Amino acid sequence: MADIDNERNCEEKGTSKEAQLLAACYEGNSQRAKELVDQGAEIFVTDETGRTALHFAAASGDVDTVRFVLESGIPWNSLDVGNYTAGDYAESSGHDAAYNKLVQAGIRAEMILRLFNKGQVDGKAANEDYLTQPVVYSGDRLIDAEKNGVMMSWEAPLMELHAKTICANPGGVVLNVGFGMGIIDTALQQLSPGKHVIIEAHPDVYQHMKNEGWDKKPNVYILFGRWQDKLDEVRALGPYDGIFFDTFGEFYKDLDDFHKAIFAGGNDDGEQQPILSQPDGIYSFFNGMGGDHKLFHDVYCHVARADLLKLGMDTQYSQVASDIVMDEETWKGIKRPYWMIKSYNLPTCKWVQKE
Ligand SMILES: C[S@@+](CC[C@H](N)C(=O)[O-])C[C@H]1O[C@@H](n2cnc3c(N)ncnc32)[C@H](O)[C@@H]1O
Repeated sequence: MADIDNERNCEEKGTSKEAQLLAACYEGNSQRAKELVDQGAEIFVTDETGRTALHFAAASGDVDTVRFVLESGIPWNSLDVGNYTAGDYAESSGHDAAYNKLVQAGIRAEMILRLFNKGQVDGKAANEDYLTQPVVYSGDRLIDAEKNGVMMSWEAPLMELHAKTICANPGGVVLNVGFGMGIIDTALQQLSPGKHVIIEAHPDVYQHMKNEGWDKKPNVYILFGRWQDKLDEVRALGPYDGIFFDTFGEFYKDLDDFHKAIFAGGNDDGEQQPILSQPDGIYSFFNGMGGDHKLFHDVYCHVARADLLKLGMDTQYSQVASDIVMDEETWKGIKRPYWMIKSYNLPTCKWVQKE
C-alpha cells in the first residue's frame, strides 16, 4: 500500500481545487472538503496511484470526512492501482471507527443492490464453463482449465475445524456439498458419521471420487450433479444433523438460494420440513466471500448473518487459523489468490431457539 504520509503527493501537485480536496480529506477536514466541492472541485478525482478522496479520508480516520465523501458518491469499494480499498488505509492506521463506517456503507449498498437485482433470472448456471471444462489434481491443489485454484491443501486445517463443527457426535447424519479434494469428507469419515451424503457436480471430480473408492464406503451416498438439481434426493436421505457448503465458481446469490432451500422448508407454503434437522442441526460454509479484501469480506459476513437470521438461523463467526502461512509459493501458478486475509471467520449456524 502506498504511504500517503510520506508522499503527500496532493501537496506536490500544486493548488488545483482537486489537489486541495484530497489534502482536506487527508487532514480529516470535512468542512473544508465540503467547501471545495461546493466551489466546483471534482469529487471523483484520483491521484497517480488511483487513490480516491475516500482513500484519503479513510487514512485520516475522521468519520465525518469519510461520511461526507461516501455521501458525495464515491463507492465504498473503490480500489487504488495497488488493489487496496479505503478500508485497508483505515485499518492499517488503527482507525476503527472509520473502518466501521466503510463496512456499514458496504452493507447498505449491498442490501440496496439486492432490491434492484431481485427476481433477475438468466437460467444459466454461474459456473457452467467450469463444470464443462476439465480439472486437474496436481499435488497439493485441484485446478481448473484456467488455472484457478478450485481447492488447495492450505485449507486443510480449516476443513478439519468445519468437520468438527458440523459432526459433533459419532453416528450423526451429515451432508457435504462440493467434494473438491475430499479434505472435509476425509475429516468427516474420521468422526464416524452414521450417514454421509456428498453432492458433487464436476464429472472429473466424480470420477476421482470413484477412483479413490468413495462409492464403496458403506455409509457414504454420492449424489452426482449440481446441488440445485439434487434437492429432492438430498431431502429423501435427510434430515441432517450437520451440513457444510463449499462449491466453486458460484456467487453469494447461490449460497443464499442454498440457505433458502435447506432452512425454509423447501417450498413457499413451508409444508415440508427443513433439510437441516430441528432444533439441534448445525450448518457451516466455507467463508471465502470477498476473501481477497478484508473490507469486502467483513461486509459479506454481516450481510450473510442478516440473511441467515431472516431464515431463522443464528450465525456466530469464530476467528481461527490466523497461523496459516501464505507466501509466494502458496499461490505460484494460480491465476488469482482467493484468500488474502489474516484470520478466518468460521461460521457456525444454529436454529434460533424458540422461547
Ligand atoms: C472448493 S471445492 C470443495 C473442497 C472441499 N471442501 C474439500 O474439503 O476438499 C468445490 C467443489 O464444489 C463442486 N461444485 C461446484 N459447483 C457445484 C454445484 N452447484 N453443486 C455441487 N458441487 C459443485 C466443484 O466441482 C468442486 O469439487
